[in-house]
Amino acid sequence: MSERVRVLLTEEEVDARIQALGDQITKDYQGKTVHLVCVLKGGVFFMCELAKRIKVPVTMDFMSASSYGSDTKSSGVVKIVKDLDEPLKDKNVLIVEDIIDSGRTLSYLIKMLGDREPADIKLCTLLDKPERRVTDVKVDYSGFNIPDEFVVGYGLDYDQKYRNLPYIGVVEFE
Ligand code: IMP
Ligand code: MG
Repeated sequence: MSERVRVLLTEEEVDARIQALGDQITKDYQGKTVHLVCVLKGGVFFMCELAKRIKVPVTMDFMSASSYGSDTKSSGVVKIVKDLDEPLKDKNVLIVEDIIDSGRTLSYLIKMLGDREPADIKLCTLLDKPERRVTDVKVDYSGFNIPDEFVVGYGLDYDQKYRNLPYIGVVEFE
């Protein structure tokens, strides 16, 4: 099956929105250090761009969880592929995700990381598909609500491809 990618959000639109999120986070975390937790691999482009625009002190850590194989449907199973290097105790944790779809990955991660006694734990996602939610997740910062379509670019992949696209596109199968 071959596929093509249709632009949904241009590079300029995504950059402008990340700037706005960075400004908001800078305001909300005045006097604090924000500990960014990147959910690999999809969150990495967004986290780097976001971190550059946050003007309070930033520390970072990375973890990898997966609920998808090479298919486009959630398996419902969350696997921790790589855990964080640093403890979260007393940190102001901001989880940075590429997209929230069913919400299964994030509700699992928030519970797991919340047990490590951070001062605070919040969630920032570049994209949100609210229609697809099967479990309750509180999203503190969201870049864009998007329709129920499979998207790629800016870290998001289809079968490990297209992560490097500097915009968000919809995969169309022909
Ligand atoms: P959830 O557990 O269903 O919320 O799935 C979250 C994860 O599924 C995201 O972090 C992505 O890795 C992946 N995912 C969900 N929707 C898409 C999509 O439209 N394109 C690419 N990956 C997606
Ligand atoms: Mg992800």
